[in-house]
Amino acid sequence: MLAAGRNFIGGKWILSSSKKTFASINPATGRPIGHVQFSAERDVEMAIGAAEKAYGSWSATPAPKRAIALLKAAEIMRKEKERLARLVTMEMGKVLKEARGDVQEAIDTFEYFAGEGRRLLGYTAPSELRNKFAMTVRRPVGVFGLITPWNFPMAIPAWKIAPALVCGNSVILKPASDTPLCAIELVRIIERAGVPPGVINMVTGPADPVGTKIVEDRRIRGISFTGSRETGEWILRNAGIKKIGMELGGKNGIMVMDDADLELALDGVIWGAFGTTGQRCTAASRVILHEKIAAKFTAMLVQRTKGLKLGNGLSSVDVGPLINKAAVEKVRRYVDIGVGEGAKLLCGGKANAGAGFFFQPTVFNAVTPDMRIAQEEIFGPVVALIIVKGFDEAIDVMNGVEYGLSSSVYTKDVSSAFKAIERIEAGITYINASTIGAEVHLPFGGIKGTGIGTREAGIEGVNEFSETKTVYVDYSGKLQKAQID
Ligand code: UN1
Repeated sequence: MLAAGRNFIGGKWILSSSKKTFASINPATGRPIGHVQFSAERDVEMAIGAAEKAYGSWSATPAPKRAIALLKAAEIMRKEKERLARLVTMEMGKVLKEARGDVQEAIDTFEYFAGEGRRLLGYTAPSELRNKFAMTVRRPVGVFGLITPWNFPMAIPAWKIAPALVCGNSVILKPASDTPLCAIELVRIIERAGVPPGVINMVTGPADPVGTKIVEDRRIRGISFTGSRETGEWILRNAGIKKIGMELGGKNGIMVMDDADLELALDGVIWGAFGTTGQRCTAASRVILHEKIAAKFTAMLVQRTKGLKLGNGLSSVDVGPLINKAAVEKVRRYVDIGVGEGAKLLCGGKANAGAGFFFQPTVFNAVTPDMRIAQEEIFGPVVALIIVKGFDEAIDVMNGVEYGLSSSVYTKDVSSAFKAIERIEAGITYINASTIGAEVHLPFGGIKGTGIGTREAGIEGVNEFSETKTVYVDYSGKLQKAQID
């Protein structure tokens, strides 16, 4: 057995003070592929000390120089993309071509935020007084806690690490316990790229105490979290006064109107609902069908879904496993709930027997908007079909959930498209494209139960990891009073 992966604290790879480790499991086989530290509060304590110590010099390093390390990290990742993608598939299960996308998204993010090193824009504004200058500059926040999920084990840590570092923060990464080996590889690459000791620290281990300590400690000035709504709410209740970024769940819908190109919509639904085995915050878990095309589209969808090949993502399959046993149980429970609520199971609905955590792509119809399978995030390969009479009802159904992340409309009518853009309550709307596949130079995030207004990636990603300082320079040589003189 390989030696257990270590924590990275103050530029050193070290064992946890707990002397305990835990296994990372390959979801396609159910077998361990490595072990990592089951860390204790003391390890987080050390990481906070290291991050505080490194902060002064890193925050004083010019941003264009900080950016050089990000570019180097991107370059290393590009060279080692295939190795990293295979690790993503082995540890998280997504099929290899999607794993390559995950790594590519991390590369793109590092390159994009390296560019931000030469911007980090503030602005100037006229002062109301003579001989006085007014402007804004960006300042780092301090020590940032980054708490990341397992579904994009390279891309989502990259979304947080890259902007946090270029803005001059030091960070403590707590990766999801289902994908710690991916996080170790990413941090190793960042170390090789020349980021100084203590600027990035990583502590693996359970939510309690590793996550709770990061959230509660007053020396940590910012938290960026992607994960479940329950955990997000816990963080908001317990973090105290911190700068907080949140990206929580989704119950994303695709509207297929009666004038839609049905083949195109079908590709979008299959990709959105079953890509990454439905384990994306942006997954399409509801399809809202105009009654005129509902029967035809449903038949097309069921036929395509039945043809999807389920299996180990390293082989040539369409859909990989779920992340773990608990996920299989959760999806199974939702299938029972759907059947119990009176929805009609058209295909799938079962876990595969044998090794690995496989669940068949599942389609329900006769779903009404109030059913739990139409309201709650399942995070698995389950799609609920809801039939509506027309555009207005489709919008009402679309908006009738607590989440508001991604959304999609298939129509050939430009007026319907623009009405949908205006009326859908979500952070992202796609026209004639699926709900997934956001690009790194555009803001990503949601409204309502999905978040608290923060956006990751793109130019708005910088806001999450920097503070705006307002600067007044008075060169009049006398006391001038705003609002009075
Ligand atoms: C997520 O599921 O939290 O837009 C992120 C997408 C990906 C990112 C998803 N680029 O589906």
